[in-house]
Amino acid sequence: MNRKWGHVILSATMLIVIAAVTAPVPAQETAIISQRDIFHPVIGRDGMVATQQQYASDAGLQVLKEGGNAVDAAVTIGFTLAVTLPRAGNIGGGGFMLIHSARSGETVALDYREKAPMNATRDMFLDEQGDADPEKSRYSYLAAGVPGTVAGMTMALEKYGTISLKRALQPAIRYAEKGFPVDAGFRESLIAAKERMQASDASMKIFFKKGGQPYDVGELFIQKDLAQTLKLIARKGRDAFYKGDIADKIVAVMQDNGGLITKEDLAKYSPALRKPIHGAYRGYDIYSMPPPSSGGVHIVQILNILEAYPISFLGHNTAATLHLMAEAMKLAYADRSKHLGDSDFVPVPVKGLISKSYADALRGQIDQYRATPSNTVLPGEPGKFESNDTTHFSVLDRNGNAVSNTFTINFSYGSKLTVPGAGFLLNNEMDDFSAKPGVPNAYGLIGGEFNAVQPEKRMLSSMSPTIVTKDGRPFLITGSPGGSRIITTTLQVIMNVIDHGMNIAAATNAVRIHHQWLPDEIRIENGLNPDTIGLLRQRGHKVVVKDAMGSTQSIMRHDGVLFGASDPRRTGALTLGF
Ligand code: GLY
Repeated sequence: MNRKWGHVILSATMLIVIAAVTAPVPAQETAIISQRDIFHPVIGRDGMVATQQQYASDAGLQVLKEGGNAVDAAVTIGFTLAVTLPRAGNIGGGGFMLIHSARSGETVALDYREKAPMNATRDMFLDEQGDADPEKSRYSYLAAGVPGTVAGMTMALEKYGTISLKRALQPAIRYAEKGFPVDAGFRESLIAAKERMQASDASMKIFFKKGGQPYDVGELFIQKDLAQTLKLIARKGRDAFYKGDIADKIVAVMQDNGGLITKEDLAKYSPALRKPIHGAYRGYDIYSMPPPSSGGVHIVQILNILEAYPISFLGHNTAATLHLMAEAMKLAYADRSKHLGDSDFVPVPVKGLISKSYADALRGQIDQYRATPSNTVLPGEPGKFESNDTTHFSVLDRNGNAVSNTFTINFSYGSKLTVPGAGFLLNNEMDDFSAKPGVPNAYGLIGGEFNAVQPEKRMLSSMSPTIVTKDGRPFLITGSPGGSRIITTTLQVIMNVIDHGMNIAAATNAVRIHHQWLPDEIRIENGLNPDTIGLLRQRGHKVVVKDAMGSTQSIMRHDGVLFGASDPRRTGALTLGF
């Protein structure tokens, strides 16, 4: 475009933007499917599940069909994923579950994130020179936090479910004992993990055939030890894992290999019920995960900044919209580096970070024409305003109860180390702490003092299970894996639906972008219009094309009809409704 016309368009855009800052900007007409749409969601009326793995979706849907509620289905899905999606589903990791109760209208946040063992120390991941040593924080037995999944799932079921633990574990035990056919995605992920897995004989015994050969597509994958572990949990409840035979096996592998988790760590572990982060965006209520996740805080913070701009008018994935989004993301991730950590240990200024007035102040730093270099963007002062492989699933039942759950063992197959005889992988979540403040973690995220290692502290997360409500009822249930990209991926699904009026399948499939302050680049997916990339570069952005981001599993409810979509970016996912 010639410079004169480019300038005229930019000036017009700015006038519109300035006008919009002073006037409320309505949301788009609510997304429904139409003949014009290229992508179509799965449709249901009485219940829906969206997960990363087909057998887990089947298991959850069956529970809903039998009259179980959303939590019953979610716990069944969680345990099934521990068997059928072992790269991320787990009993050796942790996560977050957002639960909306139709009867009370309340949404609660169940935090079953791993904790640092009691013997953890601030400098445990530094080498002799005082530098962060990723081998220790990612691939050694020190990498494992005290697992929270079994405690989280059993607590959810006891407090909010209606079925027995035995019933919830039934499909998981069946798939572990009888096996399921290996698909191409599973095979590929194992081949990618093999080199690291060789450090654990117990992992190799389970995930590879004798001689280290990978399973072929279609071959049955059986996990006998895991089946025994799950049966013990079915019989004895969470104590089997935290105090009984399984705890003994975890402690034995720790003692033999220089790990830190003790019987006392396991016995003391308990999940926390927290108040979700709550924000408002163009007439919708956003509920998402509070610290120790950074997800909810920054989704709401970015939406607050963007709410004053006419995003819908500026258009989906146009340079004008993406520029504003990238600038807002940059400000939020700069704050993340300083202000976020486990709020049980450090004073996270949540109220300030999610306040509309702090967003107003941050918006003042955004130049409509030019990218602000990240090295001039510093974490703000929200206190003044005080007033890569993870998996997500969403469930909605016939009564309007909803569950949004994201859980993880951090990397694909976590630390790659299996607890011998127990058949499950240990997480490497300790890498989510700042091994050394200022040094990036595996996702390139800079952490500060607030996220330093401390005994019994939970490491900062980006997992963002989210429930958007309209007039008090669930409208959108969504979330994603993707490390640091979880926050921006979830954000874009919300904006695609609310700002751009897309149906949930189109909102899921649309090309995504991501900016996390450092590195100072807009990361984009393949498929963004080259003209748009050119315009972003003209504004001073560095734009890089990298791998696809996230894998959302979403359900939307409109006029009593359920619409769902599983992300096409990773194989094996399935949304089912009835
Ligand atoms: N392990 C990735 C996260 O919790 O954000």
